[in-house]
Amino acid sequence: MKEDAPKQELHDNARQAVAYGSPNMIRRIAINTGGGDAPGLNAVIRSVALSALNRGWQVVGIRRGYEGLIDGEPDSVIPLDRDAVRGIAHLGGTILGTTNRGDPFQYPVEKDGRRVPTDVSARIVQRFRELQLDALVALGGDGSMSIARRLMERGLPRVVGVPKTIDNDLRGTNVTFGFATAVATTTDALDKLHTTAQAHCRVMVVEVMGRHAGWIALHSGIAGGADVILIPEIPYHLDRVCEKIRERYLRRSDFAIVVVSEGAKVAGGEALYKLDKDDFKEHAVLGGIGDRLAREIEAATGREARAVVLGHLQRGGSPVSFDRLLAQRMGCAAVRFLAQSDRSGMVAQVGGEIILIPFEEVVGGIRGVDVHSDTIETGRDLGISFGDEPIGTFLNRVAAHGVADLTREPPATAPAAADASGVS
Ligand code: F6P
Repeated sequence: MKEDAPKQELHDNARQAVAYGSPNMIRRIAINTGGGDAPGLNAVIRSVALSALNRGWQVVGIRRGYEGLIDGEPDSVIPLDRDAVRGIAHLGGTILGTTNRGDPFQYPVEKDGRRVPTDVSARIVQRFRELQLDALVALGGDGSMSIARRLMERGLPRVVGVPKTIDNDLRGTNVTFGFATAVATTTDALDKLHTTAQAHCRVMVVEVMGRHAGWIALHSGIAGGADVILIPEIPYHLDRVCEKIRERYLRRSDFAIVVVSEGAKVAGGEALYKLDKDDFKEHAVLGGIGDRLAREIEAATGREARAVVLGHLQRGGSPVSFDRLLAQRMGCAAVRFLAQSDRSGMVAQVGGEIILIPFEEVVGGIRGVDVHSDTIETGRDLGISFGDEPIGTFLNRVAAHGVADLTREPPATAPAAADASGVS
């Protein structure tokens, strides 16, 4: 879906949202949080609980994704009254706990001393009925939305999803809560890494999260003054990266900052993984690109390079105000959709509005960075290398005139491309 879809299209989307189940009065709802955590989960939980309680509904929280409906432990489903959600909007993590190993369609069940992937969806639907729940508000990413849709096919009455991921790569919504906080954390780290890079004249390679999409690298890289940004959507060439680094040192900016998404790929190559997927985990674990790049850059340029992996720091901490607001807008909208319609689907921000979109629009793919977007163009205009294009005429000038005279025009024989330099 385009970022600036016209309003009419939004309303058409909302109208077409899938109608599951029949219109029924809501009295009691459940909330769960699934997949990797993201700052803002608690703000959504509080907003859903308060707006539901204010309508006279009862609210319960299911612990650790769907596990709380499967394990039968007494404290696995907890009442979410006003006391339970008091003072949590600014807290990171989730008071309900989460897991990315809890897919009820391949849940680990002990059989003959082995854990076997087993479909326990019937148990969830039965437990949902026993608890007399009318609807579920499911906070999660594409995995959680896909599970929600399949559970409804098995008999769960209604689900409204709320899109969560720091990676910001969920289809159907312009933005997910948690992303802005991750970008702020990463930008702060880049500011700090600038000073140590400068002090040691080093190249700092900063590996950030972003499995299949480079949103965190792109936004924090531009905000934090990176020289090179490498994202999964733009396969990179090592020589182009090194060309930019050499340019930095030739210009006597004796350090460089490279931001690389964990899922970035060298042209013609594959992303690097450090742990394989097993039967129960949502995904294999990416990692290693930062280290590899630092070694390669050092070997190719002779400049000392160090790698820093920001990792789960990006998922932690208090949500920034943008995420707190977005989280609460989405949480309250989820309850309004439950109250005012009989539809299921995921709440999404499109064109500044919060609408409800069918799960079908969300699952089965991701929303990557548009490589022709103005944000990418902004990076290129600033002289940031994405590891794909040559850096322009700058080196031609150096070759023709030497470093001392960088203000002269390139010789007539040099390519007339725009000078993409931009020393920070
Ligand atoms: O939340 C998404 C994400 O942050 C990815 O960018 C990352 O690859 C993944 O989660 C790591 O998750 P975990 O370490 O919890 O498996």
